[in-house]
Amino acid sequence: MRALQFPEYGPAAVLRVAEAPEPHAGPGQIRVAVRASGVNPADTYVRAGRFREWVPLPLPHVPGVDAAGVVDEVGAGVTTVRVGDEVFGVTDYAQMGGANAEYAVLAAWAPKPAALSWEQAGGAAGNIETAARVLDRLGVEPGTVLLIEGAAGGVGTTTIQLAVARGATVIGTAGEHNHEFITALGAIPTTYGPGLAERVKALVPGGVDVVLDGAGSGSLPDLVGLVASPERVVSIADANAAAYGVHWSRGSGPGADAPALDGIAAAGALAEQGRFTVPIAAVFSLDEGAAAHELSESRHARGKIVLTP
Ligand SMILES: NC(=O)c1ccc[n+]([C@@H]2O[C@H](COP(=O)([O-])OP(=O)(O)OC[C@H]3O[C@@H](n4cnc5c(N)ncnc54)[C@H](OP(=O)(O)O)[C@@H]3O)[C@@H](O)[C@H]2O)c1
Repeated sequence: MRALQFPEYGPAAVLRVAEAPEPHAGPGQIRVAVRASGVNPADTYVRAGRFREWVPLPLPHVPGVDAAGVVDEVGAGVTTVRVGDEVFGVTDYAQMGGANAEYAVLAAWAPKPAALSWEQAGGAAGNIETAARVLDRLGVEPGTVLLIEGAAGGVGTTTIQLAVARGATVIGTAGEHNHEFITALGAIPTTYGPGLAERVKALVPGGVDVVLDGAGSGSLPDLVGLVASPERVVSIADANAAAYGVHWSRGSGPGADAPALDGIAAAGALAEQGRFTVPIAAVFSLDEGAAAHELSESRHARGKIVLTP
C-alpha cells in the first residue's frame, strides 16, 4: 500500500510516500480503507526523534494517529461494526502512528457522523480523546468556567465545543485574528500573554474555575495564578508542569492517564445534533506530507490539518 513514512528521524523533508506492508486487524481492532487522516504536533515530534529513547520505533515509520474510512477487516472479538461501515477513530497510541496511509488499523472508533465530511472525521478522533480526557480530569460540568490557553488549534477548537456541550462557560486565548473564529465555536475570546489576569477579570468578574494549558508556551505560572490551586490546571503541552504543581496529561507512555476513548462516540453524537464540528486548517495529499508537517510546526494552524490518500 501507499503510505507516508520516514526512513530516518529528521526534519519534515525526510517524509516521503512509498510502498509499505499492509497492516492487519488484530483482536479487538479493525482495519479501514482510509479516506482521510490527521496530522498532530506529536507526529512531528515523533518524526524529529524527540521520543526515540522513550519509544524506539522500527524505521521506516508511518505517522498519524487518527483516521476515518471504510471498514475492510474486522478483528477477532469485534461485534460492533461490519465490513463496509464508515467509521472514525484512532490507531493504537502505543504504536505512535500508522494512520497516514491507504489502510490503517484502528484500536478505538465510532460511526462516522454524516454531519462531518471525511476530512473533518479523519482528523477528529485524537483531539476528541484529548479534550474528553482533560474535561473529565478537570471535572467540567454545567456552570464551570474554563479557560483554554491556545483555543484556536486542533485541541482547543475541540475542547471549546465539548465543554460548551457540558454546559460550561469557556474563555479561549488566541491571536486576535482568531477571535471571531473561536467566538463562533462558543468561546469568549481574549489574547494570550502579559495582562491575562486583568483581561480575564474584566470578562468574568467571578473568576475562572479550571484551566487547560493547550499551548505549552511557558505561561503556567500566570495560568496557575488564575485559579484557587494548581490542581485546577491541566497541561497537555508543558513537560515542566509538575514544577508548578500542575498535572501533565498524556494519553500514552510512562505516567499516562487512561485515554478517554468513549469521548469519540459521544462527540460523534453531538456532531449529528449540529453541536460539534471540526474546523479544517488545511487539507493536503499524502504526497504533500512534508508541507503538512511544516504547517503544524508553525504552531499557528487554525483548526485541524488533514491528509487524503
Ligand atoms: N498530551 C496530550 O495528550 C496531547 C494531545 C494533543 C496535543 N498535545 C499538545 O498540545 C499542543 C496543542 O496541540 P494542537 O493539536 O491543538 O496544536 P495546533 O493545532 O498546532 O495548535 C496551534 C494553536 O496554538 C495557538 N498558539 C500558538 N502559540 C500560542 C501561545 N503562545 N499562546 C496560546 N496559543 C498559542 C495558535 O493560535 P494563534 O494562531 O491564535 O496564536 C494555534 O491555533 C501541542 O503542544 C501538542 O503537542 C498534547
